[in-house]
Amino acid sequence: MMHLRDGQATATVIHREAYTAPAFWIDTVDLSFDLDPAKTRVLNRMRLRRNPDVPAQALRLDGDELNLARVLVNGQGTSFKMDASQLVLENLPEGDAPFDLEIFTTCAPAKNTKLMGLFVSNDTFFTQCEAEGFRRITYFLDRPDVMSSYSVTLRADKKAYPVLLSNGNLLAQGPLEDGRHFAQWVDPHKKPCYLFALVAGQLVCREQRVTARSGKEHLLQVYVRSGDLDKTEHAMNSLRASIAWDEARFGLSLDLERFMIVATSDFNMGAMENKGLNIFNTKFVLANSATATDTDYANIESVVGHEYFHNWTGNRITCRDWFQLSLKEGLTVFRDQEFSQDLASQALAGDEAAAKSARAVKRIEDVRLLRTVQFAEDAGPMAHPVRPDSYVEINNFYTVTIYEKGSEVVRMMQTLVAPALTASGTVGGLAHTGQEGFAKGMALYFERHDGQAVTCDDFAQAIADANPGTALALYLPQFKRWYAQAGTPRVHAVGSYDATTQRYTLTLSQSCAASPGQEHKDPFVIPVQMGLLDHTGREVLASQLLVLTEATQSFEFHDLSVPDGQAPVPSLLRDFSAPVVLEMDFSPAQLLTLLAHDSDPFNQWEAAQRLYMQAALSAVRAEGEPNQVLDAALLDALRTVLRHPNMDAAFKELVLTLPAETYIAEQLDVVDPQRIHTVREAMRAQLAQALHDDWAWAFESHRENGSYQPDPVSSGRRALSGLALHMVCLHARNTADTHWPERALKCFDNAHNMTDRFNALSALVTSGNALATPALQRFYSLFSREALVMDKWFALQASAPDRGGNVLPVVRQLMQHPDFTLKNPNRARSLIFSFCNANPGAFHRSDAAGYVFWSERVLELDAFNPQVAARLARALDRWSKLAEPYRSAAHVALTRIAAKSDLSRDVREVITRALS
Ligand code: BES
Ligand code: ZN
Repeated sequence: MMHLRDGQATATVIHREAYTAPAFWIDTVDLSFDLDPAKTRVLNRMRLRRNPDVPAQALRLDGDELNLARVLVNGQGTSFKMDASQLVLENLPEGDAPFDLEIFTTCAPAKNTKLMGLFVSNDTFFTQCEAEGFRRITYFLDRPDVMSSYSVTLRADKKAYPVLLSNGNLLAQGPLEDGRHFAQWVDPHKKPCYLFALVAGQLVCREQRVTARSGKEHLLQVYVRSGDLDKTEHAMNSLRASIAWDEARFGLSLDLERFMIVATSDFNMGAMENKGLNIFNTKFVLANSATATDTDYANIESVVGHEYFHNWTGNRITCRDWFQLSLKEGLTVFRDQEFSQDLASQALAGDEAAAKSARAVKRIEDVRLLRTVQFAEDAGPMAHPVRPDSYVEINNFYTVTIYEKGSEVVRMMQTLVAPALTASGTVGGLAHTGQEGFAKGMALYFERHDGQAVTCDDFAQAIADANPGTALALYLPQFKRWYAQAGTPRVHAVGSYDATTQRYTLTLSQSCAASPGQEHKDPFVIPVQMGLLDHTGREVLASQLLVLTEATQSFEFHDLSVPDGQAPVPSLLRDFSAPVVLEMDFSPAQLLTLLAHDSDPFNQWEAAQRLYMQAALSAVRAEGEPNQVLDAALLDALRTVLRHPNMDAAFKELVLTLPAETYIAEQLDVVDPQRIHTVREAMRAQLAQALHDDWAWAFESHRENGSYQPDPVSSGRRALSGLALHMVCLHARNTADTHWPERALKCFDNAHNMTDRFNALSALVTSGNALATPALQRFYSLFSREALVMDKWFALQASAPDRGGNVLPVVRQLMQHPDFTLKNPNRARSLIFSFCNANPGAFHRSDAAGYVFWSERVLELDAFNPQVAARLARALDRWSKLAEPYRSAAHVALTRIAAKSDLSRDVREVITRALS
């Protein structure tokens, strides 16, 4: 037990070490639902047996907000008691023989504002059971290691709920009395209860029959509200691509006759992998060229992929307990990242350089998320290992550490199962990347564990065992520290070159700061992909893999002949081969060489990021107005990139985008958000001014006129022309030029697709031009009936650059808008989260009004949706690094929330950790 401050609530802490196997198994579950929004009746008939490996004990079933009407054991009434929210049965039949348990309960889906369990959205029933929502539907052993066979009967009014769906195959359907009807579904696969789902309502679907490689036929369906059918093509294409990819890369086929995706506009998360019946936030399903941006299209592809890939990594093999969450989430994020990379490069098959660049673009985007959000988490009060040791509320542990860092850990395993390089230094093709060895490891994982609930250890062991002799197999116990130790390791690199012996020595040292509950860290196994360039940019040492396992290690490279005896330039951590901070004293000249010439596009981008960061940090530390933060050499190099005849546009857009304010903040011990904002804005203004003619050229020459396609090439062109338009409009603001804002307004009016339209609108809003106001109005009148587009409208206004504190009043005013509601998570995120999390210059106010607003919203949300409230509560995680007056003001706001006696467990845990 953890005792919280001032004798308030006492929260139970769950410990990984305390895991014990369940005392009972539930072999079959037969559920009948009489669906009614006010009062749904649930009959749950189970067949149980004692787990012979566990001492005999009472059966304790989890429940939450249920009304219990009846409990029968083998058809007879029985005694039971309640212990907090658990239903306890002490007088069950002894011995190993199975017995029947029947439980009849009711619940109130229409009143379910937490959106966990069975809830109603737009007159349609949905469920969300992961992690612990099934207990809000019926009493059960709500834990992932209890796997059962399900059969489900749904009954509801036929007119109001014509479509009745659940997991698996449709066995029967038909009419009942009083205008009701029923459907019976049977799932042929055993599953943990968190994968249960039902949907009932007025829905329409796009469907398609596909034949798998095996020759088996499958029915694919995407269900949406009528009126949204014209926005389902991309999701269906993404699903078909996902199925094909998992077969081709891992030999994993769809194991169901029918695979359904259903979209709902009220959803706490992005999407959920329920067996055969994925439920999605509309944001990750609905798209057409008029309403969705290129980013939306890309997100849909990766989320559809992600949930589909869970069918094997998560559903066929699931987690033993929730501490193993990264077993399914880290691995499945890795799979969806690889999927998106493969699709992007396949679209460019035939042009090797373009394909490589498209892979790098996706990698850079993923690393950017990891470094801005996960590195910050790993350095803050919520830091936890990829496999945590304890939690209070599991919903708080669906984090970027479990997901993004977890994916990096799997990626390192793939890298470390590449066969050792031969003396000649080359191993061709796939083997070189470890893809082949990793696929073998996955095959062994399924051979050993299909149908089981397992641990991260089981996964790592299978990958290593399938690849004897590789670095992973050699260092497995040490490698697993990535699961156990929190915090981002720092790798310090020092290089030296001896011109007479033609030797280059690279010394790498690693360290990792303390994190909550972990003072001391042992060395990690860190794969460092590297190469060497001479100072003219020619590669003098081809890419190779170093494996750092000690606190300090030196590596020597011989026979390096370089012009003029000038030291070679190291290109380290290529493709971001490990989730670490690389510290190296690069000179500006070295970075410019890497930016211009590195054969690894990730490190080209990284070189520009380092140059920006060096400039930003010295400007932040300097006194007075930032002025000419970027030097002439860097500006020239950036111009060369922008004008480069062969580089692709998406890559250029990434190189020409400055590091985020939050990422700059992470490099500092004391953070003045206003100072960082001022410096970054000055850098943007300088980029806009110095490259003005180049931006104008880039805008004109990258506009797409053909019909809209969300492919990597044309979306890259739109991204670059969009950035260019932002830059020329920004410059216009500083020079009172009217040409470009008028141009932007025209683009906005005449746009053929949402990407161009939104870029034009955003250019006007972010440059603070007066034309933004009529454009925002017109955007509203064009799209007021499109909820997902309205989310963009709210979000854009909430993330506009602050000018004299104007954003907060706008946000408060928008809360009064008839289209605003805090009850809808997407809408809450679009306005409130955009302001608190994505607009540091507006949120961190010296009058503390941003923090007051934040604390009010956390409390308001917590009263009906603790899960969403707890996400918002994390906006001030890093408060203790803030400079005054922000630090004290943030502390006051946190304390105000903490003082509330009836906080949810979710918010209580986040705030307690922040204040600890
Ligand atoms: N299993 C999760 C959904 C989930 C998350 C359920 C948290 C319960 C609590 C799903 O597979 C998932 O990871 N969804 C992500 C999107 C994904 C593409 C990373 C999400 O919802 O954010
Ligand atoms: Zn997932």
